[in-house]
Amino acid sequence: MAHKSDLIASDIEGYLKSQEEKSLLRFITCGSVDDGKSTLIGRLLYESKLIFEDQLSALEADSKKMGTQGNRIDFALLVDGLASEREQGITIDVAYRFFSTEKRKFIVADTPGHEQYTRNMATGASNADLAIILIDARKGILTQTRRHSFIVSRLGIENVVLAVNKMDLVGYSQQVFSDIEIAYRAFAKELGGIEHITAIPMSALEGDNIVERSANTDWYNGPVLLEHLETVGVRDVMQTKAFRMPVQWVNRPNLDFRGFAGFISSGTIKPGDRIKVLPSAKESTVARIVTIDGDLDEAVAGQSVTLTLEDEIDISRGDTICTAGDPAEVANQFETTLLWMADEPMYPGRPYVMKIGTSTVNATITRPKYRIDVNTLAHEAAHELQLNEVGVCNLSLDRAIAFDPYADNRETGGFILIDKMTNATVGMGMIHFALRRSSNVHWQALDVERSTRSAMKGHKPAVLWFTGLSGSGKSTIANIVDRKLIAAGAHTMILDGDNVRHGLNKDLGFTDADRVENIRRVAEVAKLMTDAGLITLVSFISPFRAERRLARDLMAGGEFVEVHVDTSLEVAEARDRKGLYKKARAGLIKNFTGIDSPYEEPENPEIRIDTSEVSAEAAADEIIRQLAEAGVVTL
Ligand code: ADX
Repeated sequence: MAHKSDLIASDIEGYLKSQEEKSLLRFITCGSVDDGKSTLIGRLLYESKLIFEDQLSALEADSKKMGTQGNRIDFALLVDGLASEREQGITIDVAYRFFSTEKRKFIVADTPGHEQYTRNMATGASNADLAIILIDARKGILTQTRRHSFIVSRLGIENVVLAVNKMDLVGYSQQVFSDIEIAYRAFAKELGGIEHITAIPMSALEGDNIVERSANTDWYNGPVLLEHLETVGVRDVMQTKAFRMPVQWVNRPNLDFRGFAGFISSGTIKPGDRIKVLPSAKESTVARIVTIDGDLDEAVAGQSVTLTLEDEIDISRGDTICTAGDPAEVANQFETTLLWMADEPMYPGRPYVMKIGTSTVNATITRPKYRIDVNTLAHEAAHELQLNEVGVCNLSLDRAIAFDPYADNRETGGFILIDKMTNATVGMGMIHFALRRSSNVHWQALDVERSTRSAMKGHKPAVLWFTGLSGSGKSTIANIVDRKLIAAGAHTMILDGDNVRHGLNKDLGFTDADRVENIRRVAEVAKLMTDAGLITLVSFISPFRAERRLARDLMAGGEFVEVHVDTSLEVAEARDRKGLYKKARAGLIKNFTGIDSPYEEPENPEIRIDTSEVSAEAAADEIIRQLAEAGVVTL
């Protein structure tokens, strides 16, 4: 192994130049804790020609700290370093490690092995050419092996190395190895999608069949790991697909130049090529391909370029430029496979943010059609998806986007989901196809406008959204406000949890998922009522911020007034007018808000009422005063 410090500067330059011509293999290692992943990666890095600078200096610094002499990194220390980095690596989702040999450059996505880190594995795998699935020869195929293989197959990785590790601990038994290989091939066949499997018996610790052929497995005739990694065929599949470039930004330094910058996710493009911009479907011809190093005659997948067009057409960030002859599809509803990666489950109906290409859109997910048991691949009924669960769900967006089915193009068919409140990545998915109803259900334009309905009422529409614990006094205050508004000549309507749950929502209970759906429906009804011009008083516990936010986002600016009826659990429970707290404490009612179901307090309500300080009458007067001040009603 040559080190930076072994090479003089010109050597390094020459070396890096020679690297440029080498092909690159991106791979991922998947294994459970203790399968020997660190040892394997350590072994590959250790044997390789050059570990890139950052990594090297960090590791060198580490080994110096630990008192090792010389500039050769101790193998054991290297492995320790990788493992401890990972242990502390709560913040590191995926560590990309670079190394190279005479024949090839490599980028390995190294991810923690704990079950809760499947999402990191999925992130690391999303652009890999090959996956090494590590098996502890003593344990054989585990649930984690199946889950990882499932993700790998669904991400379109066709090459798998089944690394049957720790062969030294099973006496290098051919029987153990072939039993595992046969079982894995059978599972993979059922799974579909994995085209090539190479099973290798090895010991990363002892170095058997990693770089050198091992004398301990004379019954094995296949390639050793590094040899396989160096020679496995990687077709540059993305270049052979139809041209797609999601627009990152519009470059307009002066009036004469208008370029569209982006990263080419698939295909090739030349000046003169006919293109189509989606979703607008406008067409033009490529004039120039501009880069900082000058114009290009051709650009391919993986390059970042700026395109100029022959015609002035309207293009903005998030649009996709496609080849005109084979454009992407456009739709706003899809069937997808979803992998849920957050501690909090996926709730049907809750709004999430979807990122696909350079587009960011609001998405809601329907109830899973089924969940997939990664062990048996059986389809199971499910109401929601929990951490690490995979399911098939329909997804609907608030606007149409350009996409390809994931099976055709993993760049334009893959997406991630983000939690609106925390900005954390909560899921990743793959589009199967667009739902037909997405193009068949149209929005009916109405002749009488919203403003006309509102004007007839003599006041503005608004939603007064009362939230708070059961027994906090929401309904009492809402009733008084309602009476006063009616007396002032306003047109109002009350939606009360207890009542709506007898009709529209009588199919819903009090699980988190049902509460999400309860509030989603009521928010939609409240929206219709504001369209009708009414002042709508909504009185629901509505315990989750995400759904109150959903309701807020449905209404026009200034129309949503969140009223937090802030009564402590002690006070609400002491009142216990319906006797429900008593029952909940006795265990007769499950999932009771404040007892064994959460209430997320509003952070910035328009109005907060501390019921220990003000009477319901006074609270109602204050609400009406604020409505008048906001110009909703005139008193
Ligand atoms: S929400 O959480 O989904 O917004 P909602 O306001 O519709 O709840 O219904 C709350 C009312 O249902 C309470 O005021 C109470 O009368 C009744 N209720 C029955 N079971 C429960 C429960 N487990 N948790 C809270 N409220 C319950």
